[in-house]
Amino acid sequence: MNINVKDELLKRLFEADGKPVSGQEFADEFGLSRTAIWKYIKEFEEEGYEISSIRKKGYVLIGSPDRVNAANIQKYLQTTTYGRTIDYYESCSSTQIVAHDAAQAGAPDGTLIVSEEQTAGKGRLSRPWNSTAEKGIWMSLIVRPSLMPQQAPQMTLVAAVAIVRAIENVTGIEASIKWPNDILLNGRKMTGILTELQSEPDRVKAIILGIGMNVNQDEEDFPEELKEIATSLKIEGGQQIDRAKLIAEILGFIELYTKMYEKHGFGPIKLLWEGYSNTAGKRIRAVMLNETIEGTAIGISEDGLLELRLDDGTVRGIYSADIVIKD
Ligand code: BTN
Repeated sequence: MNINVKDELLKRLFEADGKPVSGQEFADEFGLSRTAIWKYIKEFEEEGYEISSIRKKGYVLIGSPDRVNAANIQKYLQTTTYGRTIDYYESCSSTQIVAHDAAQAGAPDGTLIVSEEQTAGKGRLSRPWNSTAEKGIWMSLIVRPSLMPQQAPQMTLVAAVAIVRAIENVTGIEASIKWPNDILLNGRKMTGILTELQSEPDRVKAIILGIGMNVNQDEEDFPEELKEIATSLKIEGGQQIDRAKLIAEILGFIELYTKMYEKHGFGPIKLLWEGYSNTAGKRIRAVMLNETIEGTAIGISEDGLLELRLDDGTVRGIYSADIVIKD
């Protein structure tokens, strides 16, 4: 097995939960010198970990930096598959781009690409996505479910329900979902989901679930043009959130609901989604590429389309649109 020794050492320090990890024993196990282990410890300290060295006993992890790296996420993770492989970056162009390449190169089901910062984060319709360093969650999850390509768009709704449940568990805050891919707090956008597909005509090869969440930003962290329309969990709840814990919780719910979707179809997800939606029953304007229509949102169909009753009484199913809620 190809094991990254530095990652393994950090994992052992976390797992020891305040007890010493012997540098000598670890060095022997991996055929390294004690000096090599000491160098890793120094590197951890430079990265912001607080480690104390106890004579004849070993190293104790006292504190870890606010980072969404593999060790910090995996200490909370309760999944079987999702998030078991994590590719972490201090900075990258877009986790979505990195994830596409990784999926094509055969990355396993549930691989997570996560970065502290994105220099070219992208939203729906290739719009730019503001990705402030170390304050948000910018991640792309590669999933390989047994679904037909036409079932892939519903994964946006699977992810949305999972995120709302995870936010509730970690912070107690109740968010709502605006079809198809926004999660709102007090009417402002807090999370966006970008679902992209790699497929063959009759088989999904991989779905890349891109999730961008405003978590620990203060008002002043948002550029002027977003101040009125965006918010963060910290702004709404008044508290700093452990991003790694929230990611682990989200992965848990996405795994659970993806399995549910594979096994029982979209029905149970639809019910959950409708419970969190702020769209159903509202008068809305749907702006599509070639057309803009207005009507009352009835709900979502079994295929995940937004159903809109127009003023002439006809019902339209909408695949993709920007939604403006009018009341
Ligand atoms: C939207 O609401 O338009 C979707 C936004 C999706 C943003 C996330 S951040 C992580 C991943 N990497 C990207 O470049 N985009 C997605």
